[in-house]
Amino acid sequence: MISLLSAEEIFEGVYRVPDPRNPEKKLIATCNLTPGRTYYGEQVIKTREGEFRAWDPFRSKLSAAILNGIKFLPFRAGVVCLYLGASTGTTVSHISDIVGETGKIFAVEMASRVAREFVEKVAKYRKNVTSIIADARQPERYQSIYGTVSIVYCDIAQPDQTEIAIANCKRFFAGGSESILFLVVKASSIDALKNKRLVFEEQIRILKVGGFATLEKIDLEPYDRNHAMIVARAAH
Ligand SMILES: C[S@@+](CC[C@H](N)C(=O)[O-])C[C@H]1O[C@@H](n2cnc3c(N)ncnc32)[C@H](O)[C@@H]1O
Repeated sequence: MISLLSAEEIFEGVYRVPDPRNPEKKLIATCNLTPGRTYYGEQVIKTREGEFRAWDPFRSKLSAAILNGIKFLPFRAGVVCLYLGASTGTTVSHISDIVGETGKIFAVEMASRVAREFVEKVAKYRKNVTSIIADARQPERYQSIYGTVSIVYCDIAQPDQTEIAIANCKRFFAGGSESILFLVVKASSIDALKNKRLVFEEQIRILKVGGFATLEKIDLEPYDRNHAMIVARAAH
């Protein structure tokens, strides 16, 4: 049966679709690059424009940032992204939908058991995803991707994650106009006793010293109370 539902594109590759269970409600979603296959129990919505996967803001901080009004989202077809902290691939799977067959995601994960699950559940079904089992503190281990990357996404919940993200950007950015860092900051991983706003401001200062201009800082409440998303552009 042909669906009567219709998807509205809000950023390239990111859509607002009606929830078939409650048409008053809208979900955000990506167009499934692998129709018929889902990755984390996400809802599938069939529309006139094709099959979409609902992007759960409680499971993915990038989805939460979009719902909370992020203004700049440079993921699009053909983009190459270095993703630090792939885990089992919830967010990677949606970015993979957006960058499409001409794009690429190099997904770094340090925990080998988690990385194996990521390969079994996600990477092996998506040709644009390459799994790298490595510590993001040792970018020399994946030096072969040098000079290809225009977006670094970092979600590793480490106390020194801002410094790790900067080191990866400096090593791998291709040097075009769009050298963008998405930094997911977990306040309690950096300083559990400090006010989280101060922790977020401190990361923006570290980025500035490292040569980055912060474009946006997005709070992720009510989806996530302990994280913020910082989007920053590298000065060349
Ligand atoms: C919060 S989870 C990431 C969730 C994922 N980004 C998502 O949205 O689906 C953090 C992940 O980073 C990984 N990690 C932590 N430190 C790391 C490091 N130094 N290098 C690579 N991965 C790391 C952890 O093993 C964990 O799987």
